[in-house]
Amino acid sequence: MIKKTKNQSIIYGVVLILTGYILFLIIPSPVLDHAISNIEIQWLLKRTENQKYQEIKLSQIREYCVDKLGVTYNYSRNHRLDEVPDEYYAKLNYVAQHLFINDDYKFIYLSVPKVACSNWKRLLLRLKNVTNENKLAWPHSNGDHKRLVDLPREEWRAVLQDYGYYKFAFVRNPWTRLVSAYVDRFTRHDKWWYGFIQQTEGKRMIKNHRVGATENEINEGSDVKFKEFVEDILDHHNKCPNEKVAVNLNEHWNPQFFIAGLCHPWIEYDFIGRYEELDTASLEVFKKVHMPDFIDKFPKPSRNSSTVLRAAVEYSLLDTELLVNLSKQFRPDFEMLGYEAPMELSHILPSIGFEFDEESV
Ligand SMILES: *[C@@H]1O[C@H](CO)[C@@H](O)[C@H](O)[C@H]1NC(C)=O
Ligand SMILES: *[C@@H]1O[C@H](CO)[C@@H](O)[C@H](O)[C@H]1NC(C)=O
Ligand SMILES: *[C@@H]1O[C@H](CO)[C@@H](O)[C@H](O)[C@H]1NC(C)=O
Ligand SMILES: *[C@@H]1O[C@H](CO)[C@@H](O)[C@H](O)[C@H]1NC(C)=O
Repeated sequence: MIKKTKNQSIIYGVVLILTGYILFLIIPSPVLDHAISNIEIQWLLKRTENQKYQEIKLSQIREYCVDKLGVTYNYSRNHRLDEVPDEYYAKLNYVAQHLFINDDYKFIYLSVPKVACSNWKRLLLRLKNVTNENKLAWPHSNGDHKRLVDLPREEWRAVLQDYGYYKFAFVRNPWTRLVSAYVDRFTRHDKWWYGFIQQTEGKRMIKNHRVGATENEINEGSDVKFKEFVEDILDHHNKCPNEKVAVNLNEHWNPQFFIAGLCHPWIEYDFIGRYEELDTASLEVFKKVHMPDFIDKFPKPSRNSSTVLRAAVEYSLLDTELLVNLSKQFRPDFEMLGYEAPMELSHILPSIGFEFDEESV
């Protein structure tokens, strides 16, 4: 009897183990993982995904500067370049106009136009307890900020190489940034800059690129078409095809690698975030600079999907050759920063085929 029971339990045991094994084979393992800690896994996956995407590594950029733009860095252990030929890396003077310094929280922000720069400048003013409504509405007045260019040039290098300061920049997909710049500068008749742009850039664009433009259209300089805008950008490129020397375009459509001085050996950003991931990426910056409590989150730029929709319309009106030429002009921005056409526009826009592996993007 006892023996039988013993045998029975052995059989039960074997059956149980077998059943477990069969279940293990049948039930897909993700379900088991799911049972264990679905929430943590999802959270972790999302987090690594975001971090991979929201930040662009400086090493990836430097590699590009050396391999593709032929920049050489004369680094040695104890010695760095004393003076850098400006045109070789990007004009430091130009970059210095876009570097905003905050001494209270010890950071330097590189402002790229059309990449939420108004909101960052607004944030800088709030950090200085500025409450004046007009200043907050129009935060671009240089007198309200401390920029690198406002300091004596002899001090620039020391400021840039002060590792106590956290240096960050935000960049954006060049395809959408370009449309955003066009919409902002050439279609917003209610803005004060509209008349100014008409008289400067608009006249030239229509004169050089509108077939059969009337005298009146040229004098007005208004109603610039996206195609004319793009062709004007390409004109600059053709006059100045060397990618080492960035074209001297209006800053709203100047390549971002030039504005940010991404190849310059004195400028080493701690963080380069993406506009497309502004929410999470700005929180990363907030943590690093110990932003005070009253700045609890980055003010969302007043945007919706209209830029992508507008881009789909505008780009579909251009022929492929023009688009390919345009992508070549912005090639360093695409390749250094790891951008392709946004998914919604990938059927319209040429593929850039940047060469960095997924890991570094
Ligand atoms: C770097 O060093 C090389 C060799 O010493 C020199 O030819 C080159 O001009 C230097 N580059 C710069 C930017 O100073
Ligand atoms: C702004 O106000 C806060 C709170 O009153 C204060 O702690 C901080 O020092 C002020 N910042 C500046 C730059 O004055
Ligand atoms: C989206 O932006 C466009 C242009 O700025 C504006 O006209 C429209 O009302 C906005 N839509 C929403 C839902 O906010
Ligand atoms: C594109 O670039 C090529 C080479 O520079 C040039 O010959 C061609 O005319 C350009 N086409 C357009 C549409 O801009």
